[in-house]
Formats: sequence, structure tokens, C-alpha cells
Amino acid sequence: MATDRIDTLLDEQRSFAPPAAFARGAHVRDRAPYERAAHDREGYWADWARQLQWVRPWDRVLEWKPPHAKWFVGGKLNASVNCLDRHVAAGRGDKTAIVWEGEPGEVRRITYSELHADVSRFANVLKGLGVARGDRVAVYMPMVPEVVVAMLACARIGAPHTVVFGGFSAESLRDRINDAQAKVLVTADGGYRRGTVVTLKQHADDAVRDCPSIRHVVVLRRTGQPVPMQPGRDVWWHERTSAAAPQCEPEVMDAEDPLFILYTSGTTGKPKGILHTTGGYLTHVFATTKWVFDLTENDVFWCTADVGWVTGHSYIVYGPLALGVTQVMYEGAPDHPAKDRFWGICARHGVTVFYTAPTAIRAFMKWGVEHPARHDLSQLRLLGTVGEPINPEAWMWYHQHIGKERCPIVDTWWQTETGGIMITPLPGVVTTKPGSATVPFPGIEAKLLDGEGGEVATGGGYLAITSPWPGMLRTIWGDDERYRQQYWTKWPGVYFPGDGAKRDDNGYFWILGRVDDVLNVAGHRIGTMEVESALVDHPAVAEAAVVGKAHDLKGQAIAAFVTLKEGHTTTDALREELKGHVAKKIGALARPDDVLFAADLPKTRSGKIMRRLLKDIAEGRALGDTTTLADPGVVSRLKDQYEERES
Ligand code: WT7
Repeated sequence: MATDRIDTLLDEQRSFAPPAAFARGAHVRDRAPYERAAHDREGYWADWARQLQWVRPWDRVLEWKPPHAKWFVGGKLNASVNCLDRHVAAGRGDKTAIVWEGEPGEVRRITYSELHADVSRFANVLKGLGVARGDRVAVYMPMVPEVVVAMLACARIGAPHTVVFGGFSAESLRDRINDAQAKVLVTADGGYRRGTVVTLKQHADDAVRDCPSIRHVVVLRRTGQPVPMQPGRDVWWHERTSAAAPQCEPEVMDAEDPLFILYTSGTTGKPKGILHTTGGYLTHVFATTKWVFDLTENDVFWCTADVGWVTGHSYIVYGPLALGVTQVMYEGAPDHPAKDRFWGICARHGVTVFYTAPTAIRAFMKWGVEHPARHDLSQLRLLGTVGEPINPEAWMWYHQHIGKERCPIVDTWWQTETGGIMITPLPGVVTTKPGSATVPFPGIEAKLLDGEGGEVATGGGYLAITSPWPGMLRTIWGDDERYRQQYWTKWPGVYFPGDGAKRDDNGYFWILGRVDDVLNVAGHRIGTMEVESALVDHPAVAEAAVVGKAHDLKGQAIAAFVTLKEGHTTTDALREELKGHVAKKIGALARPDDVLFAADLPKTRSGKIMRRLLKDIAEGRALGDTTTLADPGVVSRLKDQYEERES
């Protein structure tokens, strides 16, 4: 039995060449960059780095002592200068940097000059509170422009930020602050989410009670609800900034100085503080923002992620601002006040490039096509996805109902750890296939390997990154041993991201999901994504999650949890039909033993399905750690439903 190969079942044949009109105007129109990067990877990345503004050039492009890389060694720069000062100096200060919509409906437009002044003021505020170069600053805020200001202010004074998603609990915030030993916390009185007020300051107070490193808490007034202010510790954002000067000399940072720490949950236990540094990270996000999203002077970019995730760090803050583009930022939920909110925003602000997650696309599918149909989406020219494998039917829905069969789709594979996009089409040159992230970005070297490190030419295996890249994590904050163990022990000198993948005859990569989730049915290792995509292929299904459930004969049997599109009803006949549909689509081997209809699937706050908990349910175990769930009620309801059916 092959234990280190993954069988591949799904055979997706549709493909979409870049539309001629798009390809003609794209930044990248031919394969030359791929060849250039393959020939001279370091020279290629150095060309990108030269497009940034440096105080002092680097002496060496790369120093690689596995598993530690240093990029642009000896170079000096400041990230906030690259995102602000240089655009203002180039006469683009009046260009809109951010068009922001609050959930209640207000709109703010902020130019690069205004952002520059706001960042400088807040940088002075932080300094006044005793924050010095190298000190960590925690940020726990709603999706308001001030969160960007806070992050860039940290970058300006050389204080690494650690942003904690505003949906996390007081305990999660506390653990992250303590791990990073942050000196100041920046938060708000509250934020708006689905029409209700999130009590951020209250969570912050609960957290900080057990955070001895925190000296001050800066509070932004967003909702205006009364909040207690602890004298000597808490200060108001508006009071301090109105008294601060709008100029602040930027710190000259080394290319390898830390820019931020961002926590990501491991499969179990303690969150990992992923450390990113300055020069390489900025180079990587600048390059990928420009080429993957094909952005030019008149584009309006909208990345729907929260800044609390790496997607927001790289493709709201550092990439788009380093490039000097105009972008949309939205505070709230996609279904508030109605399920067409995103499409209204696209139409109102003329969004041209739209980047979102498969989990959101599946929600849009479930809600129905009438919502986007009500709005003028004709300005859109390019769409993107990130965060999970996208089921081919969700890709087709996005293509038809949002892109109107006119916009290329870039399915971008990357991770908190990789800093920037790694595997992706370049929209002007790469033919796309629904469900495939296609090929590595120029300058990124990825392979498919088996457990022994042998290359898998076609078929299933483990995704591997075989050479260092500029945006890579440098370590896990305070735990370099864990860094080595987690990412670098599977094969010597090769990075293991933890994902399974397959390669097709064109060499395209198809990400199959986390290897921890891979099913093992009668000796066949099957990626969850393939069975889920076969289910989503059925017209009644909006979303599906499958898990392996212990089985005497087969090792594992497949249990499927299925959410239906609005207007479909759950019947035994449909259950049998779905099992048959999977068998027909990808083979009898993958036929689910069990199909459970669910109103919702358990997801992390970043929208990833938590299959581990579904496995607990399917195997009748007590539920494992549920603290990272967006809605803990979802699993307990599912568990009751499952147990009822089994009895
Ligand atoms: C994991 C990383 C990258 C920013 C958001 C998530 C999965 C991500 C894709 C994609 C298939 C994807 C992988 C990866 N993933 N993008 N386009 N196709 N899978 O960051 O929380 O660090 O998660 O998300 O499993 O390892 P993250």
C-alpha cells in the first residue's frame, strides 16, 4: 500500500484562456518573466526590490543557511516610507488611497497625503507612550482606516505590530499579547458587525488584566458607546492624535528587521507567532500585488479580507499601498443590511479587481444569483480567490455570475507563513482551470514530492517549496526549534507547507487540502477537496465537508456534511442521490457512507471548515477544542442531529 502518495479522482477538463482584450493590456503578456526567474532567481528578485525605495542598497541578495534565509542583506529601508512618502513625493499625494465604507453606510475617502499625515501623527503618539524601535505593539481593532494607520505607524518607528483579529476572544488576545510581550495595545470602543456592536474595549480590558507587559491602551472612538478608561493606562486616540505633529522621521530599518508577528493557529495547542521581516516581505507583496492583480493607475482594488489575517496584511496594507493603488475597505458583514451588500459596494465605488475567499463565494451561491444580478458589475475586470481549495462549481458560479464570463479568475495559493502569493495564474498569460491554482509565481520554486523526497511528476503527493523566497517567515517568534520541526524536517532544506496536492499533465498544481485531513479509504489516500467538489457539483448543494470515520473493513468510511442551496429540501431520496452522484462523478470508492444535512458547517473565524470537529462528531467522540470556531453553536447542533440519526 502506497502510504505517501495521494490518489487523485476528480478529473476537471474545463479550461479558460486569458480573454484577448485582457491579455493585450496586462502587465505580463508572455512567458519571459518565468524564464528570466528560472535562469537567475536572485537577479529577478533584486529587480523587484529595486522598484522599492531604499535608504541604502543591499550587499547581497540572499544568504541561505537552511532553514534560515536573509534577503537583501545590508539593505536599509522603511516600509511606511514605501507605502506613503514616496507616492506623496512623486506628486500622487491627492490620489485616493482608501475608500472606506462603514457597516452603517458612511463613506470616507482618504488620500495618500492624508494617510501620510495620520500615520505620522499616530507614530508620534506611540513614541510619546514610550514605544521604541523593536518594541511590540498589539492591535485589536475593527475594519476601519485607523487600523491601517496603526500598522503603518508601527512600521514607521520600527515597532513590530501584532494584529489580533477583532472577532477573537479576550483569552485569545491575552495569549497573543503575552507571547509577543507587547508594550501597548491599540483598540477601539467597539465595532459594527451585522448590525450589532462588538464590545472590543471590554474584551481588551478582560485580556489586559492578565498582560503584565502592557503599559498603555490606546482607544479609538468608533461606535461612541460608553467605555471605562483606566487612568494612567488608557488614552483616547482622538485626544492624543489631535495634539501630535503630522511629521515623523521614519526609522531606518535593516532589511531583516522584524516588520510584524502574526499568530496562526497550529493544528493543536499554542498559536504560532509567524515572524516576517521588512525588505524581502515588502518585495514579495509588491511584486505579487502588481502582477497577480494586474493593477495599474486607474484600478480600484478590493480585497475583502480582514486586516487581522495575513491576506489583509499583504493585500490591503503592504502590497496595494506600496504599489500606490486606490482600494476599497469595508467594515462589516456581507449580508448586512441585505445579501447584496458586496455587489452594491462594487457598483458604488467602481471596483475593478475583486479578491475574496471560497467560503464567501459558497455563501453567495447559497443566497442566490438575484443578489449580484441587481447591481452593475461591469467595471470588474479581474477576480481572485484565496484561503481554501475552490470547488470547480463554485469557480464556475463566480465566473458566470460575478465575472460575467469576461473576467479571468486568479486562484492564489499561499499561507500566513509564505507572506505572499506563491502559486497562482498570471491573468494575462496563464490558462486557468476551475479548481487549480495553476503554476508557481515567477521566482517561486514548488514541487510535488513523496514522503522520501522523490519528485511526483503527475498525480498526488505533498506540496513542497524547494528554494527560499523573499516573503518567507523567518522563524516562529520565540521558538526557533518549533520553526525547524514544523516546516523543515520532512525533507532536508525543503519547506513543507502541510498541504497535499496533485499535478496534472500540464504541470498544474491542484491543492487537495491539509494532509492532516486526507482520507484513507481501503488503502487509498483521497483528498477531502475532491469528494467535496463532487458533492458541490450537484445542483442542490451549496457547500460540503467530508471526513474519514473509522470503519472495520475499509479503515475509513466517508461521512459527508452537506449544506443545501436556498429552496432545496432535505429528503432521504436526496441523500441517496448525493451518494450516487459522488460515485458517478469520481468513483464508487469515494461514495459517502453517510450524508448529513447541515444548516451551517463549523468554520474558523477566517472561514476554513474545521474537519477535525466533524470527525469527532462522525466518530461519536466528545468534541475537541472549539475555541477557534466562529460560531460554537454550529457543532453542538450538528452533534445532536448526528446522534439522533444514529440512534
Ligand atoms: C492554508 C493557509 C493565504 C491567506 C489565507 C489563508 C489553504 C490557501 C488556497 C488556495 C487551496 C488554499 C492551504 C494553506 N489555502 N489558499 N488558493 N487553494 N488551498 O492563510 O490561514 O495561513 O492558511 O490555506 O491549506 O496551507 P492561512
